Amino acid sequence: MELQNSIERRLLGKSQATREIREQIRQVAPYYYPALITGETGVGKSLVAELIHKLSPRASKEFIHFNCSNLSPELFESELFGHEKGAFTGAMERKKGKLEVVDGGTVFLDEVGDLHLQNQAKLLLFMDKGIFYRLGGTERLRADVRIIAATNRNLKKEIKAGKFRKDLYFRLNTLEIHIPPLRERMVDIPLLVEEILRKENERSRTKKCISSEAVNKLISYDFPGNIRELENLMKPHPGL
Ligand SMILES: Nc1ncnc2c1ncn2[C@@H]1O[C@H](COP(=O)(O)OP(=O)(O)OP(=O)(O)O)[C@@H](O)[C@H]1O
Ligand SMILES: [Mg+2]
Repeated sequence: MELQNSIERRLLGKSQATREIREQIRQVAPYYYPALITGETGVGKSLVAELIHKLSPRASKEFIHFNCSNLSPELFESELFGHEKGAFTGAMERKKGKLEVVDGGTVFLDEVGDLHLQNQAKLLLFMDKGIFYRLGGTERLRADVRIIAATNRNLKKEIKAGKFRKDLYFRLNTLEIHIPPLRERMVDIPLLVEEILRKENERSRTKKCISSEAVNKLISYDFPGNIRELENLMKPHPGL
């Protein structure tokens, strides 16, 4: 019950779309299957991933947020699967990867659309068979880890462009949650504004409030950066 409430308190919004997302989180959470969260930047993908984990039977285990962008294929492999001593210059010791460390928990692969093809193949092996090898290793390892992935890319287009593996896509999107942009659910804005202001007041020990004119102005803007942009917009002008 407390967890059910926490999802209401953390994923705010009265729009039909946001209600449906809360419902989808509840439906998806109990399963072992991977989940894919899609949507523009700043819509709440990371928040949804965390809530799925918190409502899942893995909640008492670790949730690791792993960003797939800006990593060389070698570094990605070493970070996720681990490496053996001498696997590359500077690999002085054997190191466990996130999958081994988080065994029993959830790994959140953020920006999964940025993964190199060679990493995609190894991720697919893990997702299909539950097995992986440390970089430079031959020992076949297993880990009980739920994968939740997110992307702001259109993966179907990436598949057509030869940049994303179709088989991996179908493995990842067993359960898919699409989060629409904020401009398509403007009725969520007042609650979000209230919450951002509450946090800001708590942080700075102030009692600032916002006029309804200011909220109306916000509602007429289209927020390409979505909720993160709304947060940033309110930071430098807390007296709005
Ligand atoms: N429905 C919501 N209610 C309250 N806060 C929200 C909601 N959706 C998003 N947020 C907040 O907005 C901010 C951006 O959300 P988040 O980081 O989850 O977006 P994202 O889609 O993962 O962005 P990116 O694509 O840039 O990684 C966070 O501070 C998050 O807590
Ligand atoms: Mg994110």
